[in-house]
Amino acid sequence: MLKIDHKEHIFHLSNQLISYVIQVIDNHFIVNRYFGKQIPFFAGSNSLDSNHHAFSVYTDDDQFCSTNLPLESSLMGSGDYRITSGQITDNQQKNIPYFKYQNFDTQNNIPEELPHLTNLENATFLNINMIDGLTKTELILHYVLLNNLPDIIRWTSIKNKGKSSIDIKRLASLQLDLHDPIGKIMTFNGSHANEFVPSFSKIMNGIQEVSSNSGASGPQHQPFVAIVDNNISLNNGRYYAANLIWSGNFSAKVEKDQYQHLRLMIGLNDCDFNWQLNSNEGFTTPQAVITYGKNGLNGIAINFQKLYDKYLISSRIQKPLIAINTWETSYFELNEQECKKLAKTAASVGANLFVIDDGWFENRNSEHGQLGDWKVDPNKFPDGLLLISNYVHRFGLKFGLWIEPEMITENSNLFRNHPDWVLMNPNREKERSRNQLVLDLSQKKVQNYLIKIISNLIIDNQIDYLKWDFNRHLVPLESQINSYKDTSYLYIKGLYHILSTLRKEFHNLIIENCSSGGGRLDPGMLFYTDETWISDLTDSVARLRILSNQLSLYPLKITSSHLSVSPNEQDGRILPLRTRLELTGLGNLGLELNLNSLSKNELRQIKEFIVKFKQQYLLRHNAYVYNLLPLRKRNGEAIALLMKYDNDFLLIYSYGLGSAVHQPIYLPLYYLNSHEVYSVNNKVISGAELNEAGLTLPPTKRDFEVKTVLIKQVNKNELTGRY
Ligand code: DGJ
Repeated sequence: MLKIDHKEHIFHLSNQLISYVIQVIDNHFIVNRYFGKQIPFFAGSNSLDSNHHAFSVYTDDDQFCSTNLPLESSLMGSGDYRITSGQITDNQQKNIPYFKYQNFDTQNNIPEELPHLTNLENATFLNINMIDGLTKTELILHYVLLNNLPDIIRWTSIKNKGKSSIDIKRLASLQLDLHDPIGKIMTFNGSHANEFVPSFSKIMNGIQEVSSNSGASGPQHQPFVAIVDNNISLNNGRYYAANLIWSGNFSAKVEKDQYQHLRLMIGLNDCDFNWQLNSNEGFTTPQAVITYGKNGLNGIAINFQKLYDKYLISSRIQKPLIAINTWETSYFELNEQECKKLAKTAASVGANLFVIDDGWFENRNSEHGQLGDWKVDPNKFPDGLLLISNYVHRFGLKFGLWIEPEMITENSNLFRNHPDWVLMNPNREKERSRNQLVLDLSQKKVQNYLIKIISNLIIDNQIDYLKWDFNRHLVPLESQINSYKDTSYLYIKGLYHILSTLRKEFHNLIIENCSSGGGRLDPGMLFYTDETWISDLTDSVARLRILSNQLSLYPLKITSSHLSVSPNEQDGRILPLRTRLELTGLGNLGLELNLNSLSKNELRQIKEFIVKFKQQYLLRHNAYVYNLLPLRKRNGEAIALLMKYDNDFLLIYSYGLGSAVHQPIYLPLYYLNSHEVYSVNNKVISGAELNEAGLTLPPTKRDFEVKTVLIKQVNKNELTGRY
């Protein structure tokens, strides 16, 4: 709902959960008056600081000054000494310090060419339109309020309606100044094979930032920042949490200013960014989402899981899709006979997707091989891939193929023919990583070429599924053609264009997002893909730790998770098959080990587990998941996840390291419906009792033991005596 006080220029966006109030002051300050729990109407109980403080800048007409107002947007050169959401210069390279408020409208201006939230029929839209009279540039602040979640979507756009060009040197998607400065900063950081490590840090005076300048979102930091209560727990505590729907360079900052106010900002990274906007051109930032709540870390998690599940992801995986993938099975040593044998055994245990990973194409026997030509290796597959595709289709499996289309090596024909299609400075040494260079997706020609070559590959080989890998980042961020505009922004838009074209062209094609695991796991990629390989670490215990943290932002259903060998190939952990299966069987279960070297008994266990996974699919794939134990930084500690789908729950408890002190574990479940009753191990127990007294899990003597408990809601009317 949007309530407007036309006289005071107050805009009050509210649903049943939150209110977001902004006001236009002195015709150019867009001020945040309130963001928090829903209030019925806004009367202005919290007045603004109208002092003209020392060093502050103001004009004679201004009652207020920008130094100390809670501003929704502010520009370099305006006298706002905090980090400003924008820096825009005219054709003389002079800052445009202010835009004047013009009017507002409530149109749906969702930027279709960028990843965006969808299904917004019941959402409320507000656009605040401003103009710089001198350059005739328009600046628009966009707001969307969802009708049933505590989220506001924010982004900014600019239109140059003047005759001369202007330069956008910085333009954030969201700036939020907080009235009640709380607690600490929360971010997710990590590295390859150790993604999604939560971090809580004290807010210092000045600016703190997480960012990416590698051209991709990266495993180092999520495009996310939250300000949370100092004593936030899983169930309690306030938060303001923001996430950027973008897969390239980003910056997420928090600033504590001279008056101890907090500013939170998220958007494109301004490092290496300079966008020249010519006459009649427009520019739109990615969307950011900001949520507010008081219900602790699980509140953040459930909000984002629901938000992206309902409004962002349109995954084509609607039924159990159980992959057998050749990477950890055979690495580069692929051949037709082995693939056929593997596919046949996989089908016999219940898999329904056969994916040939890296190594299927010419001159690719190691990481030193070739990338870019995508011609089948006749030594490994003398009869081509179509033969394998037909073969696996006969067994009822889908056919999937690995590809790393954004990459190129110097020994490819593609490089020899098109050296100018590569991100590099031709006058300097090439910057190789994993022996490869990056194609310049900011160039239209390159985008079209990739669409054509991938489409042909799909058609020629009847491919149902692509594993889209991206194993290095964009260094140098230098196009040989598009030197005057920002390569990283254009690159990511080019990537989005390729992915969306392929999705439109091939209605049933499923795409797995992979970047050496979770190196490009972000809401932008979730919009264009169906699942994500969240980490190269396939040790199921360590991976569960990564998953349990990933669930703070992204839902279970985007996760592909594969059973691998023991000892694990990355960290050497030895785990029994039962533990590996139970811990892997969340999200999208897959297999990544040589089934033909397993015993009959092991194959039987896998087959039985796949039957169970399929039976419990809705809970194991679609559920919203609560963490019942604090977010973990290290491997080896206990993790308890409570999955909820519809009215039923599945508890999965991973014990971590065994202990000589054999104590049972008391685990209150918190999130069951306390007015309902549930059946647990053939016992009927009230939700209230399970929430408060909890379940008792027996002690274990072994490391990394797992327990799963199905908690099904029972119809109260069928129970006699107790109700
Ligand atoms: C990195 C991926 O994360 C792996 O799963 C595998 O596909 C390799 N690349 C192949 O090179």
